[in-house]
Amino acid sequence: MDKPYQVMPDIVVLPSYFPVPGAGLLPVNAFVIKAAEPVLVDTGMGIDTEDFMNALESIIDPRDLRWVWLTHDDADHTGSLLKLLEAAPGALLAANSLAVLRMSTAWQVPMQRVYWLNPGDSIPAGDRKLTAVRPPLFDNPTTIGIFDNKSETFFSADCFGAIIPSPVQNVDDVAEEILAQGMMGWASMDNPWVHMVDPGIFGQALEGIRQLTPKTILSAHLPPARGKTGQFLDLLATVPASTPSAAPNQQALEQVLAQMKGR
Ligand SMILES: [Fe+2]
Ligand SMILES: [Fe+2]
Repeated sequence: MDKPYQVMPDIVVLPSYFPVPGAGLLPVNAFVIKAAEPVLVDTGMGIDTEDFMNALESIIDPRDLRWVWLTHDDADHTGSLLKLLEAAPGALLAANSLAVLRMSTAWQVPMQRVYWLNPGDSIPAGDRKLTAVRPPLFDNPTTIGIFDNKSETFFSADCFGAIIPSPVQNVDDVAEEILAQGMMGWASMDNPWVHMVDPGIFGQALEGIRQLTPKTILSAHLPPARGKTGQFLDLLATVPASTPSAAPNQQALEQVLAQMKGR
């Protein structure tokens, strides 16, 4: 994990990265919203748990957290969830009901601490309203992003993610062409269904986000992006008709293994 950094006076990023052999790095971010009722958005990757908890504790006493908002139950978002529920006894777990039920097949989710949300539902965080918004791209049916009306930020879960060459704290530090390529590739690979969707219908989902007019996009898989919403939506509009990206195959794995052996 990298060191946490502030992206707004009341929002902190807990950044990590996952190497994608031959392609670059996938950012894996969680966030702390220092609202009147403090919120943790997602809980990182399991391989980072120790570092994740230390990073979180450097920002806030977990006992002060009132909400843990899980955007979906994929492993790169639930990594420290059990540790967190222990360390933050005053926090409720805000998540989609299906995510909670799916996780309940693996561990005992404390149901009395759960708060079920569907797109359009919201939680009061004291000084702001956090509304569940389904992003236009999602790789898991339980996905709910968050629109924060105070900071005018959209926490977009996996949507707007991109494989990038190296860690940065601002998306403007990635060359535009590389970023577009990384975002298109991720969108296609992580959401293969998008190529089966009518571009007009997909456009309506993009329009929904345009109308929210978020000034900042905080994706789990992208460095923070300010003033980029229109540009990103225009780019994603081209994904359904683009050539599908294929995940690396056995040949690629053999190359990676050979490189590792050569080191
Ligand atoms: Fe996901
Ligand atoms: Fe993810």
